[in-house]
Amino acid sequence: MQNILVTGGAGFIGSNFVHYLLDAEPDVKVINLDALTYAASPENLENLPDPGRHVFVKGNILDRDLVNGLMQEHSIGTVVHFAAESHVDRSILGPELFLQTNIMGTFTLLEAARAFWSGKGLEHPEVRFHHVSTDEVYGSLGPDDPAFSETTPYSPNSPYAASKAGSDHIVRSYAHTFNLPTTITNCSNNYGPRQFPEKLISLIILNALAGKDLPIYGDGRQVRDWLFVEDHCEAIWTVVKRGVPGETYNVGGNNQPTNLSIVESICDLLDELVPDQHTPRRNLIKFVTDRPGHDRRYAMNIGKISRTLGWRPRHTLQNGLRETIQWYLSNMDWANAIRERNEYQKWVSKNYSQREKQA
Ligand code: NAD
Ligand code: DAU
Repeated sequence: MQNILVTGGAGFIGSNFVHYLLDAEPDVKVINLDALTYAASPENLENLPDPGRHVFVKGNILDRDLVNGLMQEHSIGTVVHFAAESHVDRSILGPELFLQTNIMGTFTLLEAARAFWSGKGLEHPEVRFHHVSTDEVYGSLGPDDPAFSETTPYSPNSPYAASKAGSDHIVRSYAHTFNLPTTITNCSNNYGPRQFPEKLISLIILNALAGKDLPIYGDGRQVRDWLFVEDHCEAIWTVVKRGVPGETYNVGGNNQPTNLSIVESICDLLDELVPDQHTPRRNLIKFVTDRPGHDRRYAMNIGKISRTLGWRPRHTLQNGLRETIQWYLSNMDWANAIRERNEYQKWVSKNYSQREKQA
């Protein structure tokens, strides 16, 4: 058995990764460390394939004793690190937690891994610290700029992006200075099942189904590079298994619609799949005050991971969106459980009352 410590495995991408890994790899056991913040959903870990190979631990990556203890108790060979504060809007309203979790949390994990693996032997083939990061570390592109590559200089614009950039630099330094076998993936915007409905696509699907406003920040002409979450999970596992220690890999979906056009596509798909009194749902679109410092355009050059490791996204945006909407339609209990939590309601009213004040 390969014992893998997954952090943040009750959140959106982490839980999809746990499902993916247990399904794809019969000889892997997952130790899932998650603090269960507002963004986590215990429901994300229901119906796991072969749940006997999954151990859930509620705890904080900042808790050194806990992390050191888990490394030893489960003889961890591989760490796949997702846990983070992940929402740009929240980082604007309250940056401090982002610095603590994303920078100091990553540091705590690196120290625990270094201490434990120094005894085990860093050259052991299972030994790997994989850090899950973002394209936002590269900043924002102009309309004609080439897509971000692994050599694009870091230029993070939001406190979230800066905290992820800081964590990437610390990971890199542990590879360079201590020979820790690390890899980093910098990925673009994910969408798919189990995404907390504060992010664009999940929020738009659930609001559109409920006949609520569909908020578009600013002019809606910002561009993101969307990747279906299962494709991201496959990219991460490919890099963990075959990526070169010390290297970073850009991951993206090879598509760059504007926010407005992706919201319109969701409206049209919902009108087709669930025609009801809210059709046509494009009428629910509402332009609201822009995000401060809003990055205009992201695009990822995925040449390196495609060429060297053979990974490419399997989903187009159209079939990924359809699959995503179908998942939400079949899992309205999941959505209702989240919506009923106080934290979610508090966040929505805080975010939008702030926008009304700015307007
Ligand atoms: P998420 O917010 O849905 O989940 C984060 C998870 O981390 C939650 O389960 C939360 O409880 C847990 N967590 C937070 N602080 C913790 C702490 N101190 N200790 C233990 N657990 C803690 O995030 P996500 O969208 O799944 O993103 C996962 C990772 O992928 C993050 O590192 C993010 O920066 C990165 N990423 C996300 C995207 C995206 O589009 N969502 C794209 C690229 C990279
Ligand atoms: O690029 C990768 C990043 O993608 C990840 O690192 C982050 O963790 C993840 O949150 C995401 O960041 P974004 O800020 O790009 O995602 P979000 O879903 O919040 O917003 C996507 C775009 O949609 C962005 O231009 C802002 C806009 N938006 C968002 C929301 C929530 C709206 O217009 N209306 C909204 O209500």
